[in-house]
Amino acid sequence: MTSQKTILRALAGETLPTPPIWMMRQAGRYLPEYKATRAQAGDFLSLCYNSELAAEVTLQPIRRYGFDAAIMFADILLLPQALGADLWFVTGEGPRLSTITDQSGLDKLKPVDEIDAVLSPVYETLRILRRELPSDTTLIGFAGAPWTVATYMIAGQGTPDQAPAHALKASDPAVFDALMATLTTGTIAYLSRQIEAGAEVVKIFDSWAGSLQGDDFAKYAVEPARQIAAALKAKYPHVPVIAFPRGAGEKYAGLHAAIGADCIALDDGVTPEWAAAHVQPGGCVQGNLASRHMVTGGDDLVRETRRVVDAFAHGPHIFNLGHGITPDAHPDNVQLMIDTVRGG
Ligand code: CP3
Repeated sequence: MTSQKTILRALAGETLPTPPIWMMRQAGRYLPEYKATRAQAGDFLSLCYNSELAAEVTLQPIRRYGFDAAIMFADILLLPQALGADLWFVTGEGPRLSTITDQSGLDKLKPVDEIDAVLSPVYETLRILRRELPSDTTLIGFAGAPWTVATYMIAGQGTPDQAPAHALKASDPAVFDALMATLTTGTIAYLSRQIEAGAEVVKIFDSWAGSLQGDDFAKYAVEPARQIAAALKAKYPHVPVIAFPRGAGEKYAGLHAAIGADCIALDDGVTPEWAAAHVQPGGCVQGNLASRHMVTGGDDLVRETRRVVDAFAHGPHIFNLGHGITPDAHPDNVQLMIDTVRGG
């Protein structure tokens, strides 16, 4: 069955004349309409749990730019919150969580089958979006990968090198492995409910996969993603899975098969020419224009956008940035990128 939606066609392995486009963090602070709705909601978490407003900010970049996919507005840290962690955001700094450093911290977590009590507004956001999105726009759900989510739960905040998580992995492997197992099971449950609420594609964000060295990459980035993809495929074989092990570098090669993912999302630490030769033969790739071009614009943006499009033109490709768009990006540069991808 061939779907008409361009993103689903690319994910099924089709090479399209023009790659479909969406952008990580496309609903965000670079858009004045996002800032206005966020002010109306109060703080960031109130926006995530207000289904009407979360759907509204998801729709804003679709209305403004006509992206081919909408990613539901939420955050990867809602799952730990649903498991019982305290979570808050410090303006200008980022997330803060209660920390898990030993068995007693693990024991305080709620059973995975209780997450829906907190996460049901996210499912409602998806149901609203399925009604309100244009018929050719694909709806993407997401979760954080266990390793990335664990780094925040262990440290209680973002850390440049994920040192606290690496330290717990070394000092108390039983607690670390139990946390990873809980997060893997929780992510399967959470993404299953997202699919049942209308997500047509799911993406697993492993933002800190790049700090896993040696065997750790296979053990803590590839294996949990493989388990999540396999469990979802068993229940929902038609739903494509995008994996984003950011910072994988040359370990990106062969990941479609190792994870069982339909698409591997690439950060801009690899060149599009290298990835076209070494990753795209495995299946659809997504990426990988450096986000800074959305700040700087101009001829560099046009040249580098064309470079990404041309490099990936001979296989299935979804155009995206290598990471999220930043708050200092200019909305006009996003339009220039889209015009360059679609217009040549
Ligand atoms: O992409 C989208 O438009 C969908 C929504 C989305 C958000 N976060 C909204 C958000 C998605 C997919 C995420 C994923 C996410 N959240 C990741 C993985 C992707 C990545 O960026 O590496 C991570 C690590 C988080 C955790 C998180 N959330 C951090 C570290 C921060 C603070 C940093 C920052 O950009 O402020 C957030 C906050 C956050 N999540 C914002 C948005 C729009 C900004 C909050 C605001 O409006 O003040």
